[in-house]
Amino acid sequence: MVLAGKRILLIISGGIAAYKSLDLIRRLRERGASVRPIMTSGAQQFITPLAVGALAADHVFTDLFSRQDEQDVGHIRLARDCDLVLIAPATADLLAKMANGLADDLASTVLLATDRPVLAAPAMNPKMWAHPATKRNIETLRGDGIRFVGPMSGEMAESKEAGTGRMAEPLEIVAAAEMRLDDGARPLAGRKAVVTSGPTHEPIDPVRYIANRSSGRQGHAIASALAALGADVTLVSGPVSIPDPMGVHVVHVERAEEMRDAVLCALPADIAVMVAAVADWRVASAADQKIKKHPGESIPTLALTENPDILKTVGHHTQRPKLVIGFAAETQDVEANAKAKLERKGADMIVANDVSPATGIMGGTRNSVKIIRHDAVEQWPDLEKDEVAARLANLIAEQFKPE
Ligand code: C5P
Repeated sequence: MVLAGKRILLIISGGIAAYKSLDLIRRLRERGASVRPIMTSGAQQFITPLAVGALAADHVFTDLFSRQDEQDVGHIRLARDCDLVLIAPATADLLAKMANGLADDLASTVLLATDRPVLAAPAMNPKMWAHPATKRNIETLRGDGIRFVGPMSGEMAESKEAGTGRMAEPLEIVAAAEMRLDDGARPLAGRKAVVTSGPTHEPIDPVRYIANRSSGRQGHAIASALAALGADVTLVSGPVSIPDPMGVHVVHVERAEEMRDAVLCALPADIAVMVAAVADWRVASAADQKIKKHPGESIPTLALTENPDILKTVGHHTQRPKLVIGFAAETQDVEANAKAKLERKGADMIVANDVSPATGIMGGTRNSVKIIRHDAVEQWPDLEKDEVAARLANLIAEQFKPE
């Protein structure tokens, strides 16, 4: 019953999908929400304010300079006196205005003035949706914290053209509105995170490889914890024997170079947590065939070459996530080494742990970490890896709190 008693400001812009907004109003009101509609002049070409007002049982606001509306409500109050601003349909034009901060009618002015959560249900021709300008605008709006439902793929209402651009169905929009209103418990909703986990396997030949003892437990737990707070998580995992976490998009890789490619593919992202124990070196030229043991012949030597440093690449990337976190598995001088790593890798935070064999951390279920930032060091107690993950996810969420 998330919607019960909630005040939805529904902005209807001009597209054929506006006919579905009439049903949307009913569905929202059935669930106990009140709906205050704003229509653009384009919207009024498709459906009438009379129909919208009758279904919403409220005045329909259409004019930025209406003397009566400005006296009664005023566009600033309109923008604030609601729990959610819902735009359905959201046209390419309105999204472009929003992305650029234009305010030349009531809908765009309210959208610039609001401090409430905003959910948009785009609807447009597939070519318009696929246009680089629209893509740019959507990316900008996502960065501004605007959330989206749809568009869906399928046949367009106005033509036989198929593709992505159809507005989500009213019930899908209702579900997304419920989720958006529930975001208090999901502080990372709408944020993208990429997490690496596990070891890498660097082939020597088709049957042998260089590896390490990482189990993937800590990285997987972090991916889960971020998803639980609502983040859209891509987990790039090296070979591990633990299951994929639920609710997370998992990309399985073996080698460091594959891991780097998968991580870069997941950009842009808001958060990067590089937990994987990436092998520092790989065999310079792995053999295509199994290297044979011939009695009496000399023992082969392996020439190694450096692997890409994924954390460093991400930390210095043009699409660097807002928050870049690395791990430091050290056996000595944990803090000093982690501080140096913070600088070298372009990270905002290093989670440092002592993996000397006596601690049993590598491959174990518990972890004792120090959180090292540019301006602070914090020692956490000995915790289960799940608990370390939950705490870290909360720490990350704090960085994304709206001001
Ligand atoms: O330099 P070092 O291996 O100690 O750094 C550890 C941190 O850097 C971890 O966050 C690890 O995931 C990341 N790393 C990486 N790519 C490498 C080596 C380490 O992303 N090739």
